[in-house]
Amino acid sequence: MKFFIDTADLAQIKEAHELGILDGVTTNPSLMAKVGISGEEAVFNHYKTICEMVDGDISAEVLSTDYKTIIEEGKKLAAIHPNIVVKVPMIKDGVKAIKYFTDNGIRTNCTLVFSAGQAILAAKAGAAYVSPFIGRIDDSGWDGMILIEQIANIYAVQGYETEILAASIRNVNHIVKAAELGADVITSPLESILGLLKHPLTDIGLAKFVEDAKKFS
Ligand code: E4P
Repeated sequence: MKFFIDTADLAQIKEAHELGILDGVTTNPSLMAKVGISGEEAVFNHYKTICEMVDGDISAEVLSTDYKTIIEEGKKLAAIHPNIVVKVPMIKDGVKAIKYFTDNGIRTNCTLVFSAGQAILAAKAGAAYVSPFIGRIDDSGWDGMILIEQIANIYAVQGYETEILAASIRNVNHIVKAAELGADVITSPLESILGLLKHPLTDIGLAKFVEDAKKFS
C-alpha cells in the first residue's frame, strides 16, 4: 500500500519524506488555503516545489466545475510536472473530463467519492485513482470502511485498474483498516502517519533495554 501525505504544508511534507516511506502527496483547495497559498501563479509554484521535493504522484485539484474549464485547468496543471495527477470532482462534467484526460494521457484522481456507484463511474472513465472520503463518511454517522471494502470487492471482481486511494483519514485505525481491506493507497495527515509509530509497550521495552545496557557499559 502506498503512503501519500494529505497536506500543502511543506514542512510536514519534508518530515514525512525524511521518514523514507512517502510515495506521494495530495492537496485540495482547502489545504492550500490553510497554508495561505492563493492565486494561480502561487498555487502553480507551490505544486512545482512539492514535485521537486517528492518523487511520486502529486495530486493537484481543479477549481472549475464545468467540462470546458476543467479541461483547460487540468491541462495547465498537468503541464507543471510529469508527476502531477489532476484531481477532478465526482460530478457529471468531472466524469466526462476524466474520460477526456484518460484518452489524452493525463492521469486523474477522482475526488469527493462517497458511494460504490460513484467509484464504478470513476473506474469506467479511467481514473488512475479514486478517492473515497472515509473520515467524512464516519462523521456523517456511516462507516467509511464499509465503502473501502465494497469498492475493493467490486474492482477485484470487475478487474478495474483504478487504484483505491483511501482519503479523509482521521486516525491510525483508518490507515490499518484501509490496508487490511485492500486500499492501494492512503492519504493521511502527518499526525496519523506518525501515530503508527506509537505503542506504550515499545516505550516501556526501550526504556528497559536502555537501562539494562548501562549495566554493561
Ligand atoms: C483527499 O485527497 C482530500 O484532500 C482529503 O483527504 C480530505 O480530507 P478531510 O475530510 O480531512 O478534509
